[in-house]
Amino acid sequence: MSDFETVKESFERCGTSDGFYDTFYELFLSKSDEIAPFFSGTDFKKQKKLLKATITTMIRFPLDHRGTQTTLAMVAKTHSPNNYNSYNIKPELHALWLDSLCETVKKHDPDITVELEDKWRNYIQEAINTILSKY
Ligand code: HEM
Repeated sequence: MSDFETVKESFERCGTSDGFYDTFYELFLSKSDEIAPFFSGTDFKKQKKLLKATITTMIRFPLDHRGTQTTLAMVAKTHSPNNYNSYNIKPELHALWLDSLCETVKKHDPDITVELEDKWRNYIQEAINTILSKY
């Protein structure tokens, strides 16, 4: 099975588990005192839907650069400290985002293994590198 299929199926298993995105934001916002203030005015119902769509895109990225570039470029535009009116997110905070995602998968995928967690991390890191390359 390809890494794409392996990670995609794991994400589908996570999707059937209640509270995946609640766990993600609980973990992410507790990673550093710097993070929670960014989300003081956030509509998390909307944010969780956007996060689901973006993770789906990030999983497709290694297979379909052309079809996913625009979404990643948009995230870079709204997050980069180099853009006017952006959220001004330092690159190093993305590492905490990835840690939170991997820990959330670990809690919600009943078939998680150390190898699968590594696959997730390496896989999603590719999309994050692209987002940061557009910073
Ligand atoms: C690669 C990792 C990340 C991805 C894929 C991602 C994705 C997204 C998406 C899709 C949105 C909604 C659309 C938008 O406003 O652009 C968003 C909003 C946001 N993100 Fe991220 N993000 C990431 C990392 C981070 C990090 C590290 C922070 C640091 C605190 C952060 C803070 C925010 C904030 C403050 C918003 C706006 C929330 C609101 O509308 O109130 N993001 N992100």
